[in-house]
Amino acid sequence: MARPRVLSGIQPTADSFHLGNYLGAVRQWVTMQETYDAFYCVVDLHAITVPHDPAELRRRSRVAAAQLLAAGLDPERCTVFVQSHVPEHAELAWVLNCLTGMGEAGRMTQFKDKSAKQGESAASVGLFTYPILQAADILLYQADRVPVGADQKQHLELTRDLGQRFNHRFGETFTLPQPHILKEVEKITDLQDPTAKMSKSSSSPQGILDVLEAPGTLRKKVMRAVTDTGTDVLADDDNKPGVTNLLRIQSALTGTPIPELEARYAGQGYGTFKKDVAEAVVEAFSPIRERTEKLLANEAELDRLLAIGAERAGAVARGTMATVRDRIGF
Ligand code: ADP
Ligand code: NA
Repeated sequence: MARPRVLSGIQPTADSFHLGNYLGAVRQWVTMQETYDAFYCVVDLHAITVPHDPAELRRRSRVAAAQLLAAGLDPERCTVFVQSHVPEHAELAWVLNCLTGMGEAGRMTQFKDKSAKQGESAASVGLFTYPILQAADILLYQADRVPVGADQKQHLELTRDLGQRFNHRFGETFTLPQPHILKEVEKITDLQDPTAKMSKSSSSPQGILDVLEAPGTLRKKVMRAVTDTGTDVLADDDNKPGVTNLLRIQSALTGTPIPELEARYAGQGYGTFKKDVAEAVVEAFSPIRERTEKLLANEAELDRLLAIGAERAGAVARGTMATVRDRIGF
């Protein structure tokens, strides 16, 4: 039996992935390549829905792709590609735009959050319709499953609605994807503001741990993480959110259950504990950083790997679009 197909994307909107991206997405993708026919996409078309700098986007897309490969996504076992290398994404998005009602698009709640910075009327139409592009990303590959967090459920519903509508009007064409709920990773929080999510858009440089950062910087940031005035290494979200976040990080990175960590550090204060958390982070990130740097230094090799991904993704996308074009009357 063929392995079920999954599709997942990540935006190239920062110079590095952070610890939350790594634990909440990238590391799980690496596991999923073993059991799924997995397609992983650096979604640069999504990154231009807000004002951007072309040279920076080009660089960040390459860095993002290199990091995915460096983190363990293996072109022999999954398909890693850059969205703009496969023009069918934009073509299918247009067709789906024409099947989406204005009211239906207006009910997508993320537009409100995402446009808050610029204001709704200054935001681009692309930002408004980006869930439709996301639907195209998924339907193009006939994905069976899509890994989603709670905030993306509404978009997957739209994807299913649009796929079903197309199938209904023009004939059976698209697989309707099921949500694949990722192994719940508790949100990693900001080291300086441990009740807020670690996020590239809202965390300060001191609050965020980037995969590509130098070991010395990572260590300093962990040692300076906000804890509380007590000395007990105990998980307690309400009273010790900083310590709890560090416990979660160490547990996720080392596979040691939190109660075991609590017992290990009983009576020792925060110093040793923080040092060990810092080492766990450095140990997880260093090999990824080194492999990323190597890939970025070897432009021809990165191009070659991305061309393999684009060719494999493109073959599937062209197949789907051939049917779509025929059904639509092009
Ligand atoms: P950001 O919030 O930094 O903008 P994205 O929204 O681009 O990150 O998230 C990309 C992926 O990383 C998503 O799958 C998301 O669930 C995961 N992720 C992001 N931040 C965290 C976090 N703090 N803890 C756990 N997972 C996270
Ligand atoms: Na985000």
